[in-house]
Amino acid sequence: MQGAGFNVEIRQSSACVMTPDERQIIARIAKRAFVDYDTQYWGKFEWAPADWQVFGMLEGVPVCHAKLTKRKATADDKQVTIIGMGGLKTDPDHQGRGFAGRLMSAIRDFIMKEGADLGLLVCGANLVPFYEKCGWQAFRGELLVQCHGQQLVWPERTMLLAMEPTGPLPNRIDLCGPPF
Ligand SMILES: CC(C)(COP(=O)(O)OP(=O)(O)OC[C@H]1O[C@@H](n2cnc3c(N)ncnc32)[C@H](O)[C@@H]1OP(=O)(O)O)[C@@H](O)C(=O)NCCC(=O)NCCS
Repeated sequence: MQGAGFNVEIRQSSACVMTPDERQIIARIAKRAFVDYDTQYWGKFEWAPADWQVFGMLEGVPVCHAKLTKRKATADDKQVTIIGMGGLKTDPDHQGRGFAGRLMSAIRDFIMKEGADLGLLVCGANLVPFYEKCGWQAFRGELLVQCHGQQLVWPERTMLLAMEPTGPLPNRIDLCGPPF
């Protein structure tokens, strides 16, 4: 059966959130998965530290990983709780098997359980179709983020996961901190 032996673990971030072996595996996955990324461009932004680490485990070994951060922010000047997701990656040897999709489902359940108003992630245009497949919506409004002490309008794509999917999305979100 496709995906048998696969499960998702969401662990609170701490110094010992990963074993040394897991840390090495995640670093190797990141290096290989982000090989085509323009690290000079993406590396110039400031990124929020993670509150949780999400692991997609295949037979007990990480093959997929992402980070989550909880933040009080404003949406159309109303205070909201956002859970931000970042750094999603699947080991290239295991891509196309539905693992990131299953990680995203677990993340959706987690965001709901935490009582957040919105899930939010930033990405390049090439990833928009993937996140739409996962049930996230493209945000067409303005996203304000903090970057090395300055506020800036986020220049790339933003995706939202609304906990009330039938309601209107906000026009303007101020993350009151760096993106995720
Ligand atoms: C994006 C990524 C995490 C997807 O991982 P994965 O485990 O292969 O994804 P899944 O197998 O769950 O794919 C789910 C669906 O999305 C599709 N999909 C995967 N990557 C996609 C992409 N870049 N663009 C559009 N669709 C994509 C798959 O074809 C699949 O569709 P299907 O259900 O119709 O078959 C993986 O390609 C990756 O690690 N990429 C490099 C790192 C990266 O860009 N991360 C995102 C940072 S914002």
